[in-house]
Amino acid sequence: MRDAQPSTIFLSDYRVPDFLIDSTHLQFELGEDSTSVCSVLAMRRNPDAAEQGAPLKLHGTELELISLAIDGRQLSDAEWSQSGEELIIDNVPSSFSLSCETRLRPQENTSLEGLYKSSGMFCTQCEAEGFRKITYYLDRPDVMSVFTVEIIADKERYPVLLSNGNLMSSEEQASGKSKTVWHDPFPKPAYLFALVAGKLAVVDDQFVTMNGRCVDLKIYVEEKDLDKCDHAMLSLKNAMRWDEEVYGREYDLDIFNIVAVDDFNMGAMENKSLNIFNTSCVLAKPETTTDAGFQRVEGVVAHEYFHNWSGNRVTCRDWFQLSLKEGFTVFRDAAFSSDMGSPTVKRVEDVTLLRTAQFAEDAGPMAHPIRPDSFIEISNFYTVTIYEKGAEVVRMIHTLLGPELFRKGSDLYFDRHDGQAVTCEDFVLAMEDASGIDLQQFRNWYSQAGTPQLMVSGVYDEQTKTYTLSVKQSCPATPGQPQKAPYHIPLAVALIGEAGQLPLNLDGVEADIETADNTERVLNVSLAEQDFVFKDVEEEPVPSLLRGFSAPVKLVFDYSRAQLLRLMRNDSDGFCRWDASQHLGLLEIKSAIATQAALLEPEYIDVCRDILADTSLDAAMVALMLQLPSEAYLAEIIHPVDVHGIHLARESVRKALANALKDELMACYSRCQSNEEYAATAEQIARRSLKNTALSFLMLLQEDRFTQLAVSQFDTSSNMTDRLAALSCLVNSDAEYKAEALQLFYQQWQHEPLVINQWFQVQAMCHLPGTLKTVKELMSHPAFDIRNPNKVRALIGAFCGQNGVNFHSEDGAAYRFLADQVLLLNRSNPQIASRLLVPLTKWRKYLPAAQKLMYAELERILSEPELSSDVYEVVSKSLQ
Ligand code: PHE
Ligand code: ZN
Repeated sequence: MRDAQPSTIFLSDYRVPDFLIDSTHLQFELGEDSTSVCSVLAMRRNPDAAEQGAPLKLHGTELELISLAIDGRQLSDAEWSQSGEELIIDNVPSSFSLSCETRLRPQENTSLEGLYKSSGMFCTQCEAEGFRKITYYLDRPDVMSVFTVEIIADKERYPVLLSNGNLMSSEEQASGKSKTVWHDPFPKPAYLFALVAGKLAVVDDQFVTMNGRCVDLKIYVEEKDLDKCDHAMLSLKNAMRWDEEVYGREYDLDIFNIVAVDDFNMGAMENKSLNIFNTSCVLAKPETTTDAGFQRVEGVVAHEYFHNWSGNRVTCRDWFQLSLKEGFTVFRDAAFSSDMGSPTVKRVEDVTLLRTAQFAEDAGPMAHPIRPDSFIEISNFYTVTIYEKGAEVVRMIHTLLGPELFRKGSDLYFDRHDGQAVTCEDFVLAMEDASGIDLQQFRNWYSQAGTPQLMVSGVYDEQTKTYTLSVKQSCPATPGQPQKAPYHIPLAVALIGEAGQLPLNLDGVEADIETADNTERVLNVSLAEQDFVFKDVEEEPVPSLLRGFSAPVKLVFDYSRAQLLRLMRNDSDGFCRWDASQHLGLLEIKSAIATQAALLEPEYIDVCRDILADTSLDAAMVALMLQLPSEAYLAEIIHPVDVHGIHLARESVRKALANALKDELMACYSRCQSNEEYAATAEQIARRSLKNTALSFLMLLQEDRFTQLAVSQFDTSSNMTDRLAALSCLVNSDAEYKAEALQLFYQQWQHEPLVINQWFQVQAMCHLPGTLKTVKELMSHPAFDIRNPNKVRALIGAFCGQNGVNFHSEDGAAYRFLADQVLLLNRSNPQIASRLLVPLTKWRKYLPAAQKLMYAELERILSEPELSSDVYEVVSKSLQ
């Protein structure tokens, strides 16, 4: 908790550190009431520091200081002072050894940052600034040190003692304790430090690297979860191989550990050779985990592994550069998942997340560039903008350079900066130097916030056989940035004729990028207004724009229904076909809003019927094309947002479609049924996805036979994907069986916390009236625990963030409910509190009555006397 108004930190204030830490020796004595931490730091003045006589200022927070010595001499109270999070020692030599003892109470640490306990085990989370909750230190990523860690603990309670790097020794001590020493030869910033102690079971495997080195792979979990590690282990080995093949990156130690913990604020953490995972991102087996869960495990395991190079070997100079490691690593894990499964499906999923959550963030009060220039609390900047938009920016560089030059660029980046803490600018420079391509204007993507809009129109001239695309770009104002300079936008295009793609002959050949077959080009859009003229176009084409979603922009093109139908049927770009389906769906929903009735266009029904019947198509794509744009996406394009109006219109369109295609949906459902053994393969996942999409449409018809279908799917399926899909259908219907199904499900899975989270979540997402009451009741259910972030996200987070109609109930009861939970969590876990708060911050989008109620709750939060800096930043910025 803060004592004064939290202050803003600026990128422009960056200074190199005054001191360096060559080596860090830590000794932990883990106890039942408190833990003692003794550190010995080999420090010296940084020769590059501006001021050579500066005092030593160490970071530390919520620490009990026991002793402090320099070169073995205890400091008297007069020799040091404290101010805020800093411990200041005025006179220090140019090089010295600093010894410090602190006492911690991990048992009472509910923030899940620093050293804490989860299900009986000790674990740490230090990114971004958690290490200062362990000992006094230079807790900034540009101070890199070689760590040696001694862990002493009761050997019965904590038989497994882990830290980074190599195991040096392990010995029994007197009085039932044991001591283990770890040494990490790679200098690293404190945020990559980790320690784990507990009673853990382990799954072992090995990986032989491209140079023939054998690496021990270990996944540590609770005994009962030993049967849920296979998928993570396979994903890890695939990721290790992929990074060698695609980036030439080899693993650098003889051991790689993963530990699963129940209480974790985020998905997982890339600590050097000791990745710590939220159980939800590592455990998986068919009976308990959905297809989406399997894919998440694969993606997160790979993401954390890839950080070993993009994050650990080359790290960030300061936290303003967070996207340097996160954007790049998300780009890498997305390419990996795409190679492991279905590329188009992965792309559509990623774009969907970007266009809902990220576009909303970019249009809201917390909008920030992927390299922000200020923040109050860095924990608030682990955002979809830093991660997902950051990945899109790297992807655009990949598009502009092409795969070979991009690889040259990444090789240069890793070679040049191995062992350093660097900036986004260093990354861009390496890409420029390796490719010879000018990225000067492209850098605006790093400094400007907001989602650019591309207004495109096309004119065909029958006489001259030319087709002119006129492109106008603009970007709305965002907090602190009223005006934007034009972006360099790679715009991938094709022209679709009656029988397929037309050859492209660009007039004036604007430095554009040509792709293999001359029917697709990447246009370099760089001016506010620009024309591109295509010659020798033999027929009037339909432009296929932003192919593969080549840039994170809002595209506006006034497509007619006929044009969209041509794209949806004929475009060779899977993303654009899907996007055309969404656009058509949007037109249906808009007309349902306007007419208050869902009279679907016959052509829309026809195209849906055709794709449902077309077994040559990827089933997952069929499922995605049939699903109408989500309410969250609609809230990004229809203003102001009438949540209930949008919901009703969308549901009525879905129901009308289900009615029109009843037989086809039923046939498709039956066709997709299968008795084969579960596997998380793209092909099986696709089939389940289409089957469950069909089921959810049929359930809207409220016919007994379809309810029976859901009931029997629930009763008989052995995999969680089908089971949960059926349960969700039942929960959202008026089926009598629903209460019993929920009860059965709970009884069967009460000993599996991750399954119970899904049970909470289906109920929280029910769009029927009365859900707030259910959520409140579930909060007193014995399985709920407000200290566990996964439970909070499953119940409160899902209700407030993904259940629009209930969250925006007109009496404002749900707004009040959320504000109450935020205030409660503000004390115990500020990071979770400020994340949970996000739906309220979007108040400006809604109708005036809703705005007023939401605003009042934000003010109520702001008036709380002891707000954490996390919550303070989000609330105060959203009220500005
Ligand atoms: N660095 C982690 C990742 O993206 C995320 C994380 C941030 C985890 C902060 C914990 C705390 O891989
Ligand atoms: Zn990451």
